[in-house]
Order: sequence, then structure tokens, then C-alpha cells
Amino acid sequence: MHAIPKTRILGTGSYAPARVVPNAELEGVVDTSDEWIATRTGIRRRHFAAEGEATSDMAAEACRRALSAAGLNAADVDLIIVATVTPDSPIPSCAVLVQKKLGASEIPAFDIAAACAGFIYGITIADQFIATGAARCVLVVGVELLSRAVNWTDRTTCVLFGDGAGAVVLGPASMKRTGEPDREPALAPGILSSCIFTDGSLAGALRIPAGGSARPADDEVLRTRQNKVHMDGQDVFRTAVKQLTASSTQALKASGLTSRELDWVVPHQANLRIISQVSQRLGFPLEKMVLNLEEYGNTSSASIPIALDEAVRDGRIVAGHHVLMCALGAGISWGAAVVRI
Ligand code: UT7
Repeated sequence: MHAIPKTRILGTGSYAPARVVPNAELEGVVDTSDEWIATRTGIRRRHFAAEGEATSDMAAEACRRALSAAGLNAADVDLIIVATVTPDSPIPSCAVLVQKKLGASEIPAFDIAAACAGFIYGITIADQFIATGAARCVLVVGVELLSRAVNWTDRTTCVLFGDGAGAVVLGPASMKRTGEPDREPALAPGILSSCIFTDGSLAGALRIPAGGSARPADDEVLRTRQNKVHMDGQDVFRTAVKQLTASSTQALKASGLTSRELDWVVPHQANLRIISQVSQRLGFPLEKMVLNLEEYGNTSSASIPIALDEAVRDGRIVAGHHVLMCALGAGISWGAAVVRI
């Protein structure tokens, strides 16, 4: 039997900065090639924020678009959760600035730092707030401005990432959008299951080593770029294939669905080879995986909500579809969720 959802997606929205940077442009920055990036990762382009454009600007725009899709406005929102590891500044949180930019009222707003798994963490937290009645309408936004967080002399990382934001408006499963037809209770839309994990013993595999309280940024930190992203790509790759498969299987089981009943998988967009291996292990065809890393690169916490929004807007994902989402990143933290649209 399918799980009974408490929380549903009422609208999706996303935003990518206008500047598109093809792989070829990076050949002039580090010793790399379009061919290496495309064949090793599947990435062909990414979007970079304009000078003066901040993480909170991108997040607020994605939220506005999600609210508009839901037929709601900022006054309806009673909680904002921003998943990001690239906030405008440490204090205040990015969520505070998003609240201000949306003109929302005195509602709680906070950030969560679960890196690429941040969106799955965000909707899992929101689901708890809504299920307990502590919140009714929650904005969850995954947003990253990684072009300013990478080491532009390290070819093993700087070619991978992009900037962008994706948001969802969540509300009680019983809530209907204007004009939406009634559905049988057994087909009610919503989050059927979600699971989240962290293995801190792998904390060193993907990190920004300094610039925080343990080692504040000083001349040495800046000179050696210890305030930028460092990654052991192969460790993360191996863990991703294993844990994305395991958490997806767990979320699927908890949802009561079989993989045949799934219409789409929206995976975190880090590497096409990871996604292919997960697709094989899950026995789920690659054609049914929503892919957009060719266009955006790895946008960390934004990657799933951007891909979800695109697939909803272009009509691939429609009402009644069952969608599995899964992500893994720094922490190492990961998770998966199954949603009926
Ligand atoms: O979103 C958070 C989660 N992150 C991920 O899931 C990322 C997981 N990891 C990966 O996607 C892959 O490990 C990478 C794409 C990061 C790297 O791919 P790889 O196949 O694991 O490459 P590698 O690290 O084994 O490097 C192979 C070769 C090396 O050269 P040598 O030692 O064989 O001569 C690298 O120096 O490729 C070289 N290389 C590059 N060459 C051209 C590494 N980066 C580049 C580059 N351009 N940008």
C-alpha cells in the first residue's frame, strides 16, 4: 500500500543567472578541455552570477516564481528554509535576507547547511513542520553561488560547479490549488517518504578547510586558497553511487511504491557517470532520469529543485506522477524522497 502523504508540493520555481559559461571558456582559465569535462562529467555549460548578484537575490527570485506557480504570495508563507553552503555572509542567514526581499511577515526563516543534500534535508524538515501543524505554507529553496567558492587554480573542482536556485512551496496534502480537480484519497499528492543520512567520518572528502572559526581567514589561508572548495573526487564518487542507490531503495520501500510505479527520478546533478551507475543499480532507465547537468553543471543544493521545476514546466512531470529525488554531497550527507505530484 502507498504511504499517505501529509505534505504536498503546491508550486515550483527556479532561477539561473543570465551569464552562460561553456566548457571552452574554462580552457583559458585552467589546464582543461571541453572534451575532458564533457566525457568525465556530462557538463557542457554552467551559469555564473553577475557581479553584484547575491545568493539571496537568486533565492528570492526562485521563491517568487514558485509562489506564482502555486497561486500564492509572500503573505501566505509561514516558514522559509534556505538550503545553502554559500550564503551572502555568515550573519545574518540567507533565509533572513530572502524573507526581507520577498516582503514576508515576521515568520521564522533559517538556513540549513547540508551541501548537495540540502534540498532533501529541507523538504524533510518542512514535512515535519507541516505534519505537526506547526506550519502550513513553507518555502524551501536550494541555492548556491559556487563560482565564488571554488579555487580557480584547481582544475579538479572549478570546472564542475555552477550558480542557481530552485524552490518549492509546500503545504498540507489536503490543500488544493485554485481550479485543481478533486482526486481520490488514495491518489492524494504529496511527500510519500523521505530519508536523510550523514557520515561524518568522511568529512574530509569535500570541504572548505578554512575561513571559519577553527581557522579564520588570514593571509596564509587566502594565499593557499584554503577558504575554497577542496574535494577528493573519487572518494565522493564511490560513496555517491553506493549511498544514492541505498537511500533511493529505502525511500522507495517506505513509500510503498515499486520502481515500476515510478515515473521519474530527479537525481542530484553532479556527474552523468554517477547517475548512470545509480540508474543501473536501481534498475531504472536513464531515459526516465531528469538530467540538466549539461546546462547547469553541479549547482549543489539547487540542482534537484531546478531540474524538478524544469520538468514540471515543460510537461514531462504532471499531476499524479511519482517522482524519486536523491542527492549526496559534502558531509558526507545524503538522502532521498518519493513524491506524488
Ligand atoms: O556534488 C557533490 C558531490 N560531488 C560529486 O559527486 C563529484 C564526484 N566525483 C566526480 O564526479 C569525479 O571524481 C570527478 C569529475 C571530480 C573527477 O573525475 P575522475 O574520473 O574521478 O578523474 P580523476 O580525479 O581520477 O582524474 C583523472 C585525470 C587526472 O590526471 P592523471 O593523474 O590521470 O594524469 C587528473 O589530473 O584527469 C585529470 N583531471 C583533469 N584533466 C583535465 C582532473 N580534472 C581535470 C580537468 N581537466 N578539469
